[in-house]
Amino acid sequence: MEKRAWVEVDLKKIERNVEKMKDYTGRKFMACVKADCYGMGMCEVSRRIEKRVDFFGVATTSEAVTLRDCGIKKPVLVLGPVLSGDVETLVARNVRITLFDGELLKAVSSAARKTCKKAIVHIKIDTGLGRIGVNPESAGDFVLKAAGEKEIEIEGIFTHFATAGWEDKAYAKMQISRFNETLSAVSSCNIPVKHIANSSAILNLPETYRNFDMIRIGLLMFGVYPEKEFYAKLPLECAAKGFCRVNYIKTVPKGTHLSYGITYKTSRASTKIATTGIGYADGLKRRLSNKFYFSRNGCKIRIVGNICMDQALADVTGHNIKTGDTLQVFGDNFEIENMADIVKTVPQEILCGFGSARMAKVYLNGKRK
Ligand SMILES: Cc1ncc(COP(=O)(O)O)c(C=O)c1O
Repeated sequence: MEKRAWVEVDLKKIERNVEKMKDYTGRKFMACVKADCYGMGMCEVSRRIEKRVDFFGVATTSEAVTLRDCGIKKPVLVLGPVLSGDVETLVARNVRITLFDGELLKAVSSAARKTCKKAIVHIKIDTGLGRIGVNPESAGDFVLKAAGEKEIEIEGIFTHFATAGWEDKAYAKMQISRFNETLSAVSSCNIPVKHIANSSAILNLPETYRNFDMIRIGLLMFGVYPEKEFYAKLPLECAAKGFCRVNYIKTVPKGTHLSYGITYKTSRASTKIATTGIGYADGLKRRLSNKFYFSRNGCKIRIVGNICMDQALADVTGHNIKTGDTLQVFGDNFEIENMADIVKTVPQEILCGFGSARMAKVYLNGKRK
């Protein structure tokens, strides 16, 4: 079947990006492959990088189970909250659990007893994100309580930033000091893996890898940056590119209205319009309508009119483009980051969007499963 819209994921580039970040930071590497590895294929990416990374991070029980089912043997940590009913499955499959509350602690101990396995946990501290985690003030008691359970091994302790990429570092630094205070309070427990840095942090807050044991990286594995300016600090290769097909071409006279809501009206005597096979259901955000460009052979091709669910129109006047040709949607020129700026979101959301089920995935330099 012909592909109408697809993503090319270059597994070799991801591998090289991982190596580069390991060299840059000199720390253990947790590959955050949650949300189907930001839409780009959790099993395909994980299998390829397993030898090079120390841990995998996922968000949910079902993602952890999928990783094990696709053959991943390395440590896996569920970064998000786990429901008590899922604990036994995770312990049985040697999946690390994020621990931050008394109820979960009971469930973890009891699952470990039932399965006759040690439950390995990482304690989450809420230093200021306000999502999950033990308050720094109660962390000392909580950790001691968990350490007192013989079925539980505390392998790690971590926190997560709210503003790691910001130029104003005051809030992030406050989170770091809360984390450090917590670590002092639990120092008698000798927890081996302390971790705090995500993609933004390794580039914006070097102390977050220098002073801790592991980095947790999602976005940067794809050579996509939380902030474009960070590229200069550590140039990585763009490992995910998006394409769409030109499905139809027509020439329209001056004054023709295009697409839903008639937000675009042609102004040239004649305009050559391509109908492409990508829409917002594939990940191309509607708010990019009339504001973004496809590209072909280095030339920019403007998206005109509102992006539809399954199609988007582009002005290809003066370009030698015919039905069946391919246009690039994103790739080497920070398009994901630029789309995020326009849509006023983070690049992670844009990348996840292109992971849509309808977007075909092609894996370069690796086997496709
Ligand atoms: C707890 C945690 N750590 C690390 C990451 C990786 O973040 P990034 O994509 O910025 O590297 C995430 C992703 O949201 C996360 O939730």
